[in-house]
Amino acid sequence: ARAVAVRAEISYVMVKPDGVQRGLVGEIIGRFERKGFKLRALKLYQTPQEVAEEHYKDLSSKPFYKDLVQYILSGPVVSMVWEGDGVVASARKLIGATNPLASEPGTIRGDFAIQVGRNVIHGSDSPDNGDRETAAHALAARRALTTARRRALAC
Ligand code: PPS
Repeated sequence: ARAVAVRAEISYVMVKPDGVQRGLVGEIIGRFERKGFKLRALKLYQTPQEVAEEHYKDLSSKPFYKDLVQYILSGPVVSMVWEGDGVVASARKLIGATNPLASEPGTIRGDFAIQVGRNVIHGSDSPDNGDRETAAHALAARRALTTARRRALAC
């Protein structure tokens, strides 16, 4: 029989600046690992403004858009690509409802957040957005090691 290429499902997951600052990265990775998904890529960096704007471009007409972009730029994020069957929907369940006051205990936002403007983590809402968001962040992720090295050499 001929081998058929099956497209793997990925979700782009980002620990937002408040999650990084509060030291929740390990906890979050652990939850995805224990669930059984495969970590395919991971990087920490300061998001360039144009990447944040591209990521959230579908929300550019929303009243909270400016605050949202500013929040994403307020510190380094951890960008991850997780892979597995059903990972997009499952990641959204692990993450919990957008407004942390509505997220169930046991979810990441339910356990660690109280404000929608500080809700710790992002996960793609569809496989197509998983691909689009991963592409939007790829350039920034590629630059991260070089930037770290330049900072060290400049001291
Ligand atoms: S909407 O209006 O239904 O499209 O919005 P929603 O799906 O609930 O949220 C989309 C993303 O916008 C973020 N959001 C906010 N950020 C800052 N302040 C306020 N008030 C706010 N409301 C919504 C929300 O966290 C979603 O971000 P991500 O990173 O995709 O989870």
